[in-house]
Order: sequence, then C-alpha cells, then structure tokens
Amino acid sequence: MSRGSRITGYGTALPERVITNHDLAETLDTSDTWITERTGIKERRIGGSTRSLAIDAGQRALQMSGLPAESLDAIILATTTPDRVIPATASSVQTSLGARCGAFDLNAACSGFVYGLNVAHGLILAGAENVLLIGSETLSRFVDWEDRATAVLFGDGAGAVVISATPAEDNALLSWALDCNGELEKSLYCDFGRFIYMEGREVFRQAVRIMVATCERALASAGLGTTDVNLVVPHQANARIIQSACERLGISEDQTVQVLSWTGNTSSASIPLGLADAAAGGRLRAGDIVLLVGFGAGMTAASALMRWEL
Ligand code: ACO
Repeated sequence: MSRGSRITGYGTALPERVITNHDLAETLDTSDTWITERTGIKERRIGGSTRSLAIDAGQRALQMSGLPAESLDAIILATTTPDRVIPATASSVQTSLGARCGAFDLNAACSGFVYGLNVAHGLILAGAENVLLIGSETLSRFVDWEDRATAVLFGDGAGAVVISATPAEDNALLSWALDCNGELEKSLYCDFGRFIYMEGREVFRQAVRIMVATCERALASAGLGTTDVNLVVPHQANARIIQSACERLGISEDQTVQVLSWTGNTSSASIPLGLADAAAGGRLRAGDIVLLVGFGAGMTAASALMRWEL
C-alpha cells in the first residue's frame, strides 16, 4: 500500500422537530416505559429531506476539514431513503455543495456508512485525494405511524466525514469486513409505495450474531483484540442489541457510543452521528483505536477498525 486515508473533518444535521415517546403514546397503544425498556429510545428527530440533511452535514464536515468543495474527487451518499428513484440524491447534494466530482448513492441499509468508508478508502488507494462520505436518512417517510411495532424505532438525520489521502505510514483505516446474507432479506424490507415491514425478534437475533461475526473478522484482520479497542461506535438500533453484542465480544458497554436515546434509529446516519458525538464530547484522542460496526436490512453488516487522528 503506497498511500492511506484518514478522517479530516466531520459534521452532522438533525431536524428540529422532536417526537418523544410520550407524544407517540398519545396516538399509539404504547408507553414511554415500554419503548425505553425495550429499545433505549426516548425521542427521535423528524423532518427535512435526505438531500437537505446531507447538504448540512456535508457542509459542516468540509468546513472542519478546511477543504473547499472543489477539492473533492467523490461524494458517496449512504442512504436507504433516497428522495427520488432517479437520479441519485448524491447528484443534488453535489451541486448544492458546489462540488464537481463523482457522486453516487450507496444502499447497504444501516451498514451503508461503513460500506462507504471502505469504498472511500479504496478510491483513495486508487488515486483520489478527498472523498466526502455522508450517511443521510429520512426513514420517517417510510414508517407507518399507526404501527407501534415500527413507528417507535426510527428517526431522521445525517452525519458526514471528509476522508483524505495520507502517506502510507499515516493510514488510519486499519482493517475492514463486509458481510451480507440475502437469505434474511425477508425479515426486513420496504416495497415501493409501502411502509417498512420488520420481524423484530428475528432481526434482533440475527443482528447480534452478524454484528459479533463482522467485528471478529475486522479485529482478526488487523491482528488486534478487543482490549486494543478504545471506543466502539455501533449502529444505533436498540440498546439491548448493543448490550448483547458487547457481552459476546467481551467489550464493556462503557466503551460504546450511544446516541439512540435522542436520535432513534437513523440507519446509515447513526454511526457518523455517534462518531461525531464522541469526538465533540471529548471521548476520542488522537491515536485511539475505534471500531465502527453496522448491521441492517439485507441483512448486511460491516465493520472497520481505524485510528482516530483528528
Ligand atoms: N409498545 C407496546 N407494546 C409493543 C410495542 C410498542 N411499541 N411493539 C410491540 N409491542 C408488543 C408486541 O405486540 C408483543 O405483544 P404480545 O406479547 O402481546 O404479542 C410484545 O410487545 C413483545 O413484542 P416483541 O416483538 O417480542 O418485543 P421485543 O422485545 O422483541 O422488542 C423490538 C421489539 C424493539 C422491535 C425488537 O425486536 C428490536 O429492536 N428488533 C430489532 C430491530 C432492528 O434492529 N432493526 C434494525 C434494522 S433497521 C434497518 O435496517 C432500516
């Protein structure tokens, strides 16, 4: 490897409108206690478009990196909720940011951001200098607000990172693992014009298993163990999924980032939202080893081990 990549900026965007568990309990047969105990979610943010949230998060990430939009070689928009079928939402984001570069959507459901991180790294190894990776979602548009089994889970939001080329010795992406088991797609899907369908218990069971497996692969590939990891940024779907996966991996829950209590499940936005929250909150120091792990519909899973260098 003659060059490497590292994160040089991050940014987030969340809609202003907050919907609490108590709000949902006014129209659904549910309660704050049930939602909190079963999921860890207390409230979620709703509104905006996938495009508008992506632009806000992308602008903030570029601002932190100190790079102009013209310096981007590619924009990868990880989303499972594009604004239109054609064209890719990334096209609108590209022009609004003032960039002139390749731009495309990537759909790997809630694993999309980590898939995108690996694609960005690959582009940089192939010669790109700067890539903007955004996870942006408006799942509220695909949720049946009369279905208590799914309405309580999801929220809207976006998170972005700028990934820039480095000399090989400064490479910060240490290892990765991508996974997908298409046989499980029937447990979580959304057809055109319909709402999200989910077999919650089955997704929960498979999520823990696939999450642990992908983390173990990334760790083995880097020759590291869980004791080398300073912080885990897992996909934010359910606090109990994170807890179960941590137990099996032998990682303390204190070492995880959890933002889902106030964001809900924001699919491919959840990991950059968690990463940004940890960085802004002083939980990351230069040199720390961070394990990112996503899982979602497909069923997909992805993990990446990286050294934090901001
Ligand atoms: N309020 C009150 N009761 C409820 C609610 C609710 N919002 N939702 C379901 N219930 C009821 C059920 O009807 C059931 O009642 P019953 O026992 O009378 O039949 C009972 O609560 C238990 O239901 P379960 O589905 O077994 O509850 P569980 O503990 O599994 O929690 C949950 C459900 C939160 C959905 C959980 O299964 C889960 O988190 N699954 C994983 C979801 C996930 O990770 N999705 C990620 C992918 S997202 C993506 O890729 C876009």
